[in-house]
Amino acid sequence: MKKKLAILLSGRGSNFEAIARAIEAGKLNAEIAVVISNRPGARGLDRAKELGLEAVCLPSRGVAREDYDARLVDELKRHNPDVICLAGFMRLLTPVMIEAFRGRILNIHPSLLPAFPGLDAQRQALEHGVRFSGCTVHFVDEGLDSGPIIVQAAVPVKDGDTVESLSERILEAEHAAYPRAIALVLSGAYRTEGRRVVRLKEK
Ligand code: GRF
Repeated sequence: MKKKLAILLSGRGSNFEAIARAIEAGKLNAEIAVVISNRPGARGLDRAKELGLEAVCLPSRGVAREDYDARLVDELKRHNPDVICLAGFMRLLTPVMIEAFRGRILNIHPSLLPAFPGLDAQRQALEHGVRFSGCTVHFVDEGLDSGPIIVQAAVPVKDGDTVESLSERILEAEHAAYPRAIALVLSGAYRTEGRRVVRLKEK
């Protein structure tokens, strides 16, 4: 049986599409069981429908965080995902979600964590003057972009960069990193030692 992914997004959905492409190309042995958006107009939701995937909108506006997460847990459980991928999902999860799927929720963040967590990571990197930034795929815990790191990719910051040009370069790295991290987690060939995700040697 193929392993099942659930994708949570709020907007454009380019990481979701990169994951879908990796599956299509045979680089990721999984299927997308459901795509859920908390925003009705999310482009990623439309793309999911176009791709013939199960696309669910669970609007979050005006819903208390715990109540929302309880609804999310109910919806996710109907699809029985092995791994839940946050892909531009613009909400902090409460323990209601995290405890229901501990160790199985992944997020992608556009910086080399622990530098520049939170919003506008690319702008933070540019303003700080770092010469390298990048992206991080990590397990989600109760903190803000704080869980154990699964995959990182470094990207140079160039002198003429704007937030847009840097974001674009980082996004390209994100599209390669996310499927790689998902593949590792689905394979189970790792062990978490404190904060460290250690790869197990192939037999
Ligand atoms: C990405 O930069 C991701 O790292 C961040 O939100 C953005 C989502 O982009 N968490 P997209 O919706 O996947 O195109």
